[in-house]
Amino acid sequence: MGKKVTVVGAGFYGSTTAQRLAEYDVFDTVVITDIIEGKPAGIALDLNQSRPVEGFETKVVGVTTGRNGEGYEGIEGSDVVVITAGLPRKPGMSRMDLLETNAKIVRQVAENVAKYAPNAVVIVVSNPLDEMTALAQIATQFPRNRVLGQAGMLDTARFTNFVAEALEVPVKSVRTLTLGSHGDTMVPVPSKSTVDGKPLREVMPAEQIEDLVVRTRNGGAEVVALLKTGSAYYAPSAAAARMAKAVAEDSGEVMPVCAWVDGEYGISGVYLGVEAAIGAEGVKRVVETDLDADELASLKEAAEAVRAKQADIANM
Ligand code: APR
Repeated sequence: MGKKVTVVGAGFYGSTTAQRLAEYDVFDTVVITDIIEGKPAGIALDLNQSRPVEGFETKVVGVTTGRNGEGYEGIEGSDVVVITAGLPRKPGMSRMDLLETNAKIVRQVAENVAKYAPNAVVIVVSNPLDEMTALAQIATQFPRNRVLGQAGMLDTARFTNFVAEALEVPVKSVRTLTLGSHGDTMVPVPSKSTVDGKPLREVMPAEQIEDLVVRTRNGGAEVVALLKTGSAYYAPSAAAARMAKAVAEDSGEVMPVCAWVDGEYGISGVYLGVEAAIGAEGVKRVVETDLDADELASLKEAAEAVRAKQADIANM
């Protein structure tokens, strides 16, 4: 059976994710949905007309959904569902300012996903990310390994790009890592970052690393401030699409994602940015890496900050 992926939300993040997924040419079908009448169908029509040029066979299907779940039968049989529905930030807003509005949207979406695609792996990207991921698990009641969030791949990509630009080296020679929350308690991990295999700390002064760490932590806000309307979507959709591909191909690829942590790093019972092997069942396992004492302390701090917020969302 061919693979099917659904992208909920046909805004900037959703439409670019659908485009990337279609262009991989590994899915039979990419479904894109939105509550705006006609928008998903228009995007699907447009994307399908790019097939002869780009040379892919994946079919894109656009579905308008209603408040009471109308249209959701279109997502039936999805192996993966990427949830992008929700408001993006405006300049000056933090991701947390979106909490209540997006909680209503994500809960409604997740309940319908549970009903119509009960076997899907759910990848959440709506913000605030860690909280929306936790909420999607509560609303779907799916096993925790089947609900995960996209943030770490994006934050890591931002960090890597900043390092490559600063050192004027190819991005492929740089490896970085970010863990923790997709927000103020993001934990970039210099001790695990390398340039051509050499520790980042040997090729870049500590002060400059700290500058790039801060810039990474504010990476989303920097884009929002420039765009003025809406938030980033090219790098975010690249990350989310890779995760969906890893699920579809059962690749076992290890990526930084927002996953349920159960004892790793001495942390339990919270959705948090960690590295994990991704496959057909979602998170196959969380991969623990050695951290410096201060990085581990920051990760624990992030876990407690996220835990406090995640406790609030159960009732949203
Ligand atoms: N079901 C489906 N789609 C919905 C729903 C819903 N219940 N509610 C809103 N949407 C749709 C909107 O109609 C809109 O088309 O979600 C889309 C959001 O698109 P944009 O406003 O372009 O926002 P985008 O940049 O795509 O960001 C989406 O990702 O990065 C996060 O913070 C960002 O939470 C935001 C999300």
